[in-house]
Parts: sequence; structure tokens; C-alpha cells
Amino acid sequence: MTDSIESRLKEDRRFVPPDEFQKRAHVTSHAEYTAMYRRSLDEPEAFWREHTQDLVFDKTWDRFHAWKLPHATFFEGAKLNASVSCLDRHLDGPRRTKAAIVFEGEPGDTRTLTYFELHREVVRLTAHLADLGVKAGDRVTIYMGMVPEAIVAMLACARLGATHSVVFGGFSAEALRDRINDCQAKVLLTQDAAWRRGSVVPLKQMADKALEECPTIEKVVVYRRVGDARAHVTMKEGRDVWWEDLMGRTASAASLELAKKPPAHDAEHPLFVLYTSGSTGKPKGVLHTTAGYLAGVHVTTKFVFDMKDSDLYWCTADIGWVTGHSYIVYGPLSCGAACLVYEGAPNFPDWSRFWQIIEKHGVSILYTAPTAIRAFIRAGDEWVQKADLSSLRLLGSVGEPINPEAWTWYHRVVGGGRCPIVDTWWQTETGSILLTTLPGACYSKPGSTGLPMFGVDIAVVKDKGEDCKANEGGKLVIRRPWPSMARTLFGDDERYKAAYWSQIPDVYFTGDGARRDEDGYFWVVGRIDDVLNVSGHRIGTAEIESALVSHPIVAEAAAVGKPDDLKGQALVVFVTLKNGVTADKNAKDKLAEHIDKEIGKFARPDQIRFTDALPKTRSGKIMRRLLKEVASGATEAKGDTSTLEDLGVLAKLRADED
Ligand code: WT7
Repeated sequence: MTDSIESRLKEDRRFVPPDEFQKRAHVTSHAEYTAMYRRSLDEPEAFWREHTQDLVFDKTWDRFHAWKLPHATFFEGAKLNASVSCLDRHLDGPRRTKAAIVFEGEPGDTRTLTYFELHREVVRLTAHLADLGVKAGDRVTIYMGMVPEAIVAMLACARLGATHSVVFGGFSAEALRDRINDCQAKVLLTQDAAWRRGSVVPLKQMADKALEECPTIEKVVVYRRVGDARAHVTMKEGRDVWWEDLMGRTASAASLELAKKPPAHDAEHPLFVLYTSGSTGKPKGVLHTTAGYLAGVHVTTKFVFDMKDSDLYWCTADIGWVTGHSYIVYGPLSCGAACLVYEGAPNFPDWSRFWQIIEKHGVSILYTAPTAIRAFIRAGDEWVQKADLSSLRLLGSVGEPINPEAWTWYHRVVGGGRCPIVDTWWQTETGSILLTTLPGACYSKPGSTGLPMFGVDIAVVKDKGEDCKANEGGKLVIRRPWPSMARTLFGDDERYKAAYWSQIPDVYFTGDGARRDEDGYFWVVGRIDDVLNVSGHRIGTAEIESALVSHPIVAEAAAVGKPDDLKGQALVVFVTLKNGVTADKNAKDKLAEHIDKEIGKFARPDQIRFTDALPKTRSGKIMRRLLKEVASGATEAKGDTSTLEDLGVLAKLRADED
């Protein structure tokens, strides 16, 4: 079987789902997928009515959708509570005692929360948040690591109708401060510290630093995870309360009542804000609302991951990113799935950790990122082969294009040649997966992300919006609104219009370049705007540049990406120092630390290059394209340099290579 699949793979680079998988899948043929897809576009209301039947609507919608671009509403007039669809609806049947979360801590501790237990914790926290004064519509920031309580926190916010803003635990105090202030959060939920590769990340200490300049925060709830002196926790009287103390109190009767029977919110009630990078220095607060988002993640979780009650599903993303929101929390829990949550690093204590987790718990679906796959390839097959991975039946990939070599390795070494791979393309702004291949229905082509998901009218077009021909490269756009799309950017609707809806008339521009092949399969090449994808993290070049120029020794800076075997893209910065500052290792260290402080360690440049001047056009614009070529090691400028102010700058930059 494996051999024939492998040979088929070589022949036409197509992977057909194995019969065993196909027979049991939710969608079992390409024809069925096509019929569903057609119906989702032709009769959207009927499609979404049928496929959202499991979600709990207290009141159905008056109007399925309406749009006046770039704004759209879905399920208008409907009332629902997202946490009820994720929790309460499972309590009447066998899922009551089913694992909702199987937690594996980095130190090796394990904990299981059943749907009953998860619901109980969420209800308690909801009541206490209400007692702390949190109301529907307020913003609550969550700055935590990968612990079940972070999920409890998100669901408690959703239950109350408070908009959560999860800030990835790898962000610095400064980045946290800016994100709290932008959305004016009232309460911060954090933890003493998080485990990372055996050491301790002092989250509370960083939060305290951020809060020195966050006037809107009234209360801070601190979950004790590490629990010893290494966390350096100090509690501020009147503001800070330990999670366990709060949960140990008796909540007021009114709040408890509210938490047990939570209000239904409007379909378009804001569910969360999630900050992501764009083409300016300021992060964008992507706003998602309730019904459309939940419908999108629910339906895709069911069909793309072919989710069954017997599965143990593991998405390795952090809840600080959208993948964690959609495919650890709202999608899987709304499907009643059992989710593995792992706290730590993939290579701690060694490169066998992921594979041991799969063996130990019996994971059946693994959803991870190409950058992790490439790191595992480099570490060596033996780490994978040591473990029994026979429980796996489906693999997923997300975050960046997966190169065919990585695809084939993932398929062969991790999936034992028997597991379909779903390469899923989507974005923070899209809320849910928009391109992929349904695992039991469609063949996949390594390197291609596949076909459109339900309700998604997606195309590759030229600059003015004309369709590209098959295999012609162009811009990836979406031609009509879809339920889980972002509704706006928090507090900045003008930027929402400018960033996504203005470049090409009447369509949503993704920022990605792509082509669609003769079979209708999409091949996404990556960002074509000023955004980088470093190890699956979205980093805006402008954000890095504004962080750099905020350092007193820097006169000017430009950040560009360079192809990297492991990270997809590596971050290279060109820096002009102020007069009199010596360009040495000391200056480099200072700047690297400065990025850690301003953004977070994950955004540290891979290379810092000093230069006397940056190449500019006569109008003073930095010629990023040329810098990209220099960073990638080109010895001659490929592009047009006729507008370059000083050609000498370029020659010097090349010569200065590290
Ligand atoms: C950007 C979105 C979607 C959750 C993780 C990242 C790139 C994402 C793929 C894929 C090729 C991909 C795109 C996209 N991307 N998935 N399967 N194939 N590229 O979310 O931070 O919002 O970044 O990630 O460039 O625009 P994000």
C-alpha cells in the first residue's frame, strides 16, 4: 500500500486518500465536495443553516447576510453565546465525561479536563470576572502561556460577552503595553511565569512593567503555574489577585446566575481582537464577531480535520496566534473534540518530545507548521522513529507554504505513508481555513494548498482585478464576504478599508501572491507586501524598522526578508548608525536586545548589517527590493536601478557582507 502510494506520488505528485480513510470520512468524494462547495455559493443560507445545526442559537437570524463593501454581516439578528456552543451543548450526552483538554506540561505533568470540568471552571471564572466589574463589550487582555486556564479565560470572556485580546506570551512588556492600550482593556489575566525549554519566562514581571503605563487596567488575575521564586512575582495590593484565591471565593448570587445561564449575544457582537502585523509600525487589532466566526471555525474543523468523537486532536500552535483561537479553542470545542494542549518547546528535553507525546496520549490528528517540520527533518529521523505513531490518521500544516520535500517527509516519516495531509491556507483576518483539500474527498499535491473551502470565492488576479489564466502568477483575492471574515480593525475602520479593500477594486486583497493550476489547485507563494513570515510568525518590516529607529544610536533602518531553509524567511536588517557611533559587535548586541525589549525575542533579526547609507530613490524612498537582493547574496542588481540615488551605496553594501 505504502509503496504504491509512494510510487503514485512520484509519478504525478498527487496523493489520493487511502480507502480506509476515505470510507469513514465526513466527505468521501471529490464530487461530494464540489456539490457542497457549489451549494455554499449558490444557496449560502441553506448551506450554513444545515451545517450550523449543532451550534446553539437562542434566536435564529432575520437576514442571513448583507454587505456594503467592505462591511458585511452574517446571521444578522441571531442571538447566541459562543461558550454555550463550545461547552454547555455537550453536557447532556456522553461528551459530558469526555476529555475536552488533555494537557501535557513541559515538565511532564499531565491533566485532563472533561467537558463537565471545563464548563465548571469557565462558569466560575465568568462569575468572578463579573464580580470584578467586567461587562459585555469590555475588553480583557490575556497574557498567558499554554495552560488550560488560558482557554478557560477566553471562554469566560466569551460567556460574558467581553472581547478578549490574547497577547502571545513571547511578546515583550512594551508590546503588551501597546496592545492593552490600543483596545483599552479593563482587566488583565496572566500567570506567574511560563515554562520554556526548562527555564522560566516571568510573565507577571513583564506584565507589571507593561502596566506602569496602562491606565485602563483595573484588575489583574494571576494564575500560578510555576509557583516558586523564579517567577519573581510581586502582587499589587488592590489590583492583583491570585487566580486560585479568586476562584476560591464565593461569587455573588447574581453573577453566578449570569454565568450559569449566560446571555445570548448578537451575532455581530465582538468576540475577540487579535493583534497582527501589517505594513505600518502599528499592529492591527483584527476584530472578529460571534456567529460568522464560530460558524466558519466549526464547519472547517469538522470537515477539514474530519473530526470524530474518537479522535485526540493536537494543534501545536500557541493560543496567542489565530491558529490557537480557531483550531484549539473555538473550532474543536464547538465540535466536542478532545484536544491535546502542550505547554512547551518541541525540542525539550530533546527532539523526541512531540513524538513521545503522540505515543503517550494516542494523538490521532496532528496540526503543525512547516517550520517545525523542517526543524525535525534537520534533527534526524531517528527521533521520530523511536516512537509509536500508529495512532495518527491525519496530518495538517499551516502558517507558510510547505515545500514538497517537507511535505513528503511529513507524509512518509511522521504519517507512515498512510495519513492524508491537509495543507491549510488562511490568515488572522480570514478567521478560518479558506484553502485546503478535504482529506477523504480530494487528492493533494505536495506544495499546493488546494481548493476553496465552503463559501469562499477566491481567485488569483492581476493588479486591476482581471483574472489570471491557469498557472499565471498574481494576487490572491477574495471576491465576496465570507462568514468568518474580520469585520474591522479595532478602532481604525479607515485602516481596515485601506489595508484590505483598496488595492484592487471591490475585493479583499490577502497580501499573498499565488497561482491556480489547471486543476483549480492553488499554490500560494507567500507575502508580496511588506510583511515577513519568519518561522510562521508574521512580522511587519515597518514594525522592526520603527523599533530600531527608536534606539538612540540608530539613524535609519530597513528590514527585509531573505529565503531561509529552516525559517522560510530570515530577517535581515540594514542599519545606519548616528554619527560617531562605532559599528561593532557591541552595537549589534544592543540592537538585538532592543528588539527583544520592544517586540519580543521571536522577532530578533537573523542578521544585522551596518551601512553608511541606505539605497534610496530620488524621492527618498528606501529601495527595499535592492536590499532584498543584497540580503539574499546577489552580486549584481537584477532589477532596475535607474532611480537609485547613489549607486555607490549598493556596491558598498555588497562588499560589506558579513
Ligand atoms: C499568512 C497569514 C493562518 C494561521 C497562521 C498564520 C501565510 C498561512 C499558509 C499556507 C502558504 C500560508 C500566508 C498568509 N500562510 N498558511 N498553508 N500556505 N502560506 O496566520 O499570521 O495571519 O499569517 O501566512 O502568507 O497571508 P497569519
